[in-house]
Amino acid sequence: MRRSCLAVLVIFAIAVPVQLTAQLAVTPPMGWNSWNYFAGRVDDKAVRDAADALVSTGMRDAGYIYVNIDDTWEGERDTSGALHTNNKFPDMKALADYVHSKGLKLGIYSSPGPKTCAGYEASYQHEEQDAKMYAGWGIDYLKYDLCSFNDIMKAQAPNDPAGQKAIMIAAYEKMHKALVATGRPIVYSYCQYGMDNVWEWGPQNGANLWRTTGDIAARYDRMAEIGFGQAGLSRFAGPGHWNDPDMLEVGNGKMTDDENRSHMSLWAILAAPLLAGNDLSAMKPEVLSMLTNKEVIAIDQDPLGVQGDRAYAVGPVEVWSKPLKDGSKIVGIFNRSGPRDVSLQFKPLGYSGAVKARDIWAAKDLGTIKDGWTTNIPYHGVVLLRVSK
Ligand code: GLA
Repeated sequence: MRRSCLAVLVIFAIAVPVQLTAQLAVTPPMGWNSWNYFAGRVDDKAVRDAADALVSTGMRDAGYIYVNIDDTWEGERDTSGALHTNNKFPDMKALADYVHSKGLKLGIYSSPGPKTCAGYEASYQHEEQDAKMYAGWGIDYLKYDLCSFNDIMKAQAPNDPAGQKAIMIAAYEKMHKALVATGRPIVYSYCQYGMDNVWEWGPQNGANLWRTTGDIAARYDRMAEIGFGQAGLSRFAGPGHWNDPDMLEVGNGKMTDDENRSHMSLWAILAAPLLAGNDLSAMKPEVLSMLTNKEVIAIDQDPLGVQGDRAYAVGPVEVWSKPLKDGSKIVGIFNRSGPRDVSLQFKPLGYSGAVKARDIWAAKDLGTIKDGWTTNIPYHGVVLLRVSK
């Protein structure tokens, strides 16, 4: 009897930390991040405004619940090593309480190196202390950005790529352990730009998501380079651990509606985190309607948790597909160049006879379609179909 109690306790003790990670990010995280629009200008007010807008626009209810503060919130460490916020963020605990009072969650940002990418104070040799402080504030998400740690890796293992990789893995693992030790569920987001095939080792080391590339920009060519460059990565993703092709640029820069629809469609097929990166308090209605399209969000958040992948490409046309839990399939036909007629090939999609199809952006059932079904796709546009037998 006693022995079985002990066994239960031991199993519980082993299972709990694992469970804390596994329960997080069962579907790709959704929310907002300050960097793509505000960069170094983010402050307490911008974050509160974003939280207010997530509620008033209906984005929260559509699933966007994380409000993530990126770089430039950090101040100096005091003599006890405790990090303080800078004067843009007078009271992080009060900000977290405010965000939580809106039914949202708060995310923060640091680096395993001594400095963040923007040159602010980071977590090197203060990992446990920082993790405890985040948990005390009520932080729910940490983006951990390699930045200056790269120099430490190079200094500690000069001309030794394998040694540098091992040092990097240990640094990411260290912060994971520190987060788990706080007992607070905190989504852990790796940001090291896809170095050393992070998808192969990140999930075992606590990553709920990991950036697969360098930074996105609010331009179709960069968005497309990153998005279509995800081909082949689908097998590494699943519930609790996701490839992260970077935050959304929908509503930023000069991307057209067709380009924004391509961006949203591709990220949904990729089961990518949907972290809006625009100014939510001054958003055009078309942008809001794209970000909150229920059918598109449902593709990203589908409970089967399978990332889609490229089915085939012909010149500038790429066809991507994603299986859904109900047995249907999403098919995205992307045109990376000028307007053209595109005929859909069924074989690479696993179909032979006629199928039922729905055009998602047009919100229109198409009835049955057959191999060779042809549609016109505008410059940089997409046709997104939901297909079933
Ligand atoms: C890196 C990251 C970006 C952003 C900035 C902040 O470039 O990849 O997403 O966090 O740092 O300095």
